[in-house]
Amino acid sequence: MAEQPLSTRAVLTGTGAYLPAQVLTNEDMAKRVDTSDEWIVERTGIKQRHFAAPHETAAFMGAEAGRQALEKAGLPPEALGAVIVATSTPDQSFPATAVRIQAMLGAKKAFGFDLSAACSGFVYGLSVADAMLRAGQVKSVLVIGTEVFSRILNFEDRTTCVLFGDGAGAVLLEAREVEKSGPGLLSTHLYADGSLGDILYVDGGTGQKDKPGHLVMHGREVFRHAVNLLAGAVNDALAENNLTAADIDLLVPHQANKRIIDGVGKKLGLPAERVVVTVHKHANTSAASVPLALAEAIQDGRAAPGKLLLLEALGGGLTWGSALLRL
Ligand code: UT7
Repeated sequence: MAEQPLSTRAVLTGTGAYLPAQVLTNEDMAKRVDTSDEWIVERTGIKQRHFAAPHETAAFMGAEAGRQALEKAGLPPEALGAVIVATSTPDQSFPATAVRIQAMLGAKKAFGFDLSAACSGFVYGLSVADAMLRAGQVKSVLVIGTEVFSRILNFEDRTTCVLFGDGAGAVLLEAREVEKSGPGLLSTHLYADGSLGDILYVDGGTGQKDKPGHLVMHGREVFRHAVNLLAGAVNDALAENNLTAADIDLLVPHQANKRIIDGVGKKLGLPAERVVVTVHKHANTSAASVPLALAEAIQDGRAAPGKLLLLEALGGGLTWGSALLRL
C-alpha cells in the first residue's frame, strides 16, 4: 500500500479533571430556593453539583487539572509551550488565570492567556491551540476550562442557581506529524451571534461600578436556539470532513441540559451509548464541561485510541462551536 503523506496535527496526549469536594444535591438546593429534586431532574437531568471552597479558585482548579494532563502525557512542565484558559470566572481581571496557572505548574517557558467565550470557551480554546500548533508557533499547548460559577450565581433566582456548578478540565495538545487517518484535531468550527447577548449574560463586573455581577439567563430563549445551532455546528464539522453521523464513535457535548444533549443526539441519530452525559453529576460547569466529559470518557475507556469524537458547545454571547478529534 502507498504511504500516506504526513501533515502536522494537534494530537491529544493527556487529559485532567478537577471537581471540588463539596457536593450539593438538589435537596440541598431546595433548602435555599423554592425548587424540588423532581423539577430539576425532569427539566435538566441534573442531580447534584460541586461548589468550590474559598481556596478553590479558577486558577487553583485549572492548575490541578492541567498538572494531571501533563503527567498523563509525560511532558515535563518546563517543556510546555503555552497555556490557554477558557473561563468567565477568572481569579482577577489580570494577571490572566492562565499566567497564574503557568506559575503554579512551573511551566517556565510557556506563555499564556485567557479566553472569554462563556460555555463555548473550551472549544474556542481548542481552535486557537490547533492553529498555533499547526503553524509551528509552539509544540505543546494546555487548553483548560475552569469555572467557579457558584461565585456569580444569584441564590435568590431559582431559574438559574440550580443549573450550574464548579470544576475544571484540561487537555494537552501536542504537534505531531501524522497520516491523514491518524490522530489529532481534524477541524474546528466557531460561531457567534452578539445580537443574542442579552439572553445569557452577567449583569455587572468591572464595567459597572459597585456591581460584582450575577448570571442572568432567559433559559427558554437559550434552549430555543441551542439544539438547532448546535446541530448546525455539528453538521458543518461532518460535511467538511466528508463524514456522516454514523462515523462518529462518541459525541462529547456541552453539559447544560440533558434535554438539549438528547435533542442533538437525536438529530444525529446517535444511540444513547454513543453520547457522553455527565450533567447529572456536576450540572453545567460552563467552559469546564466539555473537557470534564472528555476526561471521564477517556478514563472509563469509552474514548479509546483511534476513536472519532465530536465535541460541541454553546453559551453566552451567543457563542457556539464544534470540534472533530481522533484519539
Ligand atoms: O450553558 C449555557 C447554555 N444554557 C443552556 O443551554 C440552558 C438552556 N435552557 C434550559 O436548559 C431550560 O430552559 C431551563 C432548564 C433553564 C428551564 O427549563 P424550561 O423547561 O425552559 O422551564 P421554563 O423556564 O419554561 O419554566 C417552567 C416553569 C416556570 O413556571 P410557570 O411560569 O410555568 O409557572 C418557572 O417559574 O418552571 C418554573 N421554574 C422552576 N420551578 C421549580 C423555573 N425554575 C424552577 C426551579 N424550580 N428551579
